[in-house]
Amino acid sequence: MEFKAIVDAKARAASGCAVVGVYENGELGNAARHIDAQIGGIISRLHANGDFAAKLGDTLLLPHPAGAASARVLLAGLGPRAGFERKTYRKALRASAQALAKTGASDAAVYLALEDIPAMDSHYRARAVAEVFCAQTYRIPDLKTGAKPKPPKLALVSVASENTRGQKAMAAGLQIGAAIGGGSALARDLANLPPNICTPTYIAKRAESLEKEWPRIKTTVLDEAAIKELKMGAFLAVTQGSTQAPRFIVSEYRGAKKGSAPICLLGKGITFDSGGISLKEPPSMDEMKFDMSGAATVLGALHAAAELKLPINVIAIIASCENMPSGGAVKPADIVTSMSGQTVEILNTDAEGRLVLCDAITYSRRFKPAAVVDVATLTGACVIALGNQICGLMSNNEELAGELAAAGNRADDRAWRLPIGDEYAELLKSNFADFANVGGREGGACTAATFLSKFAKDLAWAHLDVAGTAWVGGSQKGSTGRPVPLLVDFLVHRARNGRKG
Ligand code: BES
Ligand code: MN
Ligand code: ZN
Repeated sequence: MEFKAIVDAKARAASGCAVVGVYENGELGNAARHIDAQIGGIISRLHANGDFAAKLGDTLLLPHPAGAASARVLLAGLGPRAGFERKTYRKALRASAQALAKTGASDAAVYLALEDIPAMDSHYRARAVAEVFCAQTYRIPDLKTGAKPKPPKLALVSVASENTRGQKAMAAGLQIGAAIGGGSALARDLANLPPNICTPTYIAKRAESLEKEWPRIKTTVLDEAAIKELKMGAFLAVTQGSTQAPRFIVSEYRGAKKGSAPICLLGKGITFDSGGISLKEPPSMDEMKFDMSGAATVLGALHAAAELKLPINVIAIIASCENMPSGGAVKPADIVTSMSGQTVEILNTDAEGRLVLCDAITYSRRFKPAAVVDVATLTGACVIALGNQICGLMSNNEELAGELAAAGNRADDRAWRLPIGDEYAELLKSNFADFANVGGREGGACTAATFLSKFAKDLAWAHLDVAGTAWVGGSQKGSTGRPVPLLVDFLVHRARNGRKG
């Protein structure tokens, strides 16, 4: 799908479909007013006659409206005038994208960004259009037999602004929105695939294939022998019960000079988390195929950075394996030596994410990174704390934490700061090793992050616990692609501000 920013405050563009907003009280949006005049007041009459209530999310298609420049007009309900803001704007966009997909239009002009939307500039208004329309056309990798769904007809979406200044800002926003859309689609594909297909080897192949598309990306894949060579004892403990080969994947995007310190994005890549010997209960164990969502989203963000040619170095580092029970699996009470040299008593084999990540954090040191951000479906406790709406953010660095939280707010992909520290480190004490890998049920998200902080030490490090936000359950089961929008916004701002860390 292609996106274009145009100047067209009066809805004069000839398009396959003009998308205009109407408020619940009958007030016409900025472009609807002009189209209403062009087509003899039909829109006002529809509302007055009770045929279009204009509730948020309502849509109504007017085919062949005589007098309009477009072949169709799609009315989008915006709800109450006073409540129209960035969230309701996104909702109206989603409804419009859904309704448009059911028409024969191959191109559309969207006028909703002309409305008054507090705290959202032209750039972000346009970005939201691209994100929402990309998400709307996303299809889950299809393993069903029978008739295939038709490919989407809509190929071009133009977004109208009032003047050339707005148009310029919108063009940049559309580009970023489309890159977020592409990165999210990659992440969602990987996470939605079943664990017998999306294995560590498969993720590695997908990462390697990125360099065909983006020459500035170079991928190195380490196999089990190489992982042993690096003495990643914690990572190896998790994989040892599985017959699937582990992979340690390093994908480097070089957008800046060689000497410029990179941002390392670390991903938890557990392609299936059975819990290991500390086996999980059967209900919803299938959802543990999403336990590689962190890995999928750091690859998605790298993809977006390459597509946007950001002048910054970014390295995605992924520790990928299965967590399975077997005669050879790691046992509760086993003690392993991590790559850092610190020892860990594994009291619960289901707390495996922190084990693979602690070695990834140690590995990232070789790049002398400006910042390290790990992304992981790490704890059920984080889901209890923050629900499925907002992900957890823990950090040893105020500035980095602030940047990530701000990126999440701007991208409508929020993260909320949770604490780490000595109070929680107390709970990780072991009589036999430097640390235990679990600290009890209470504050589970904070003890997990505190465990990681013992390996991050002096690095500028942050952790995103996306256990609640990476996928949705129920009838709409599937990957959300979060936190790709947050990560891309963060990278775009880092690139713009040229911060050295
Ligand atoms: N992958 C899970 C975390 C998880 C749980 C994500 C539920 C999404 C939904 C992680 O590996 C795990 O099992 N964590 C344990 C830690 C516990 C044993 C300390 C958990 O949260 O129960
Ligand atoms: Mn687990
Ligand atoms: Zn897990």
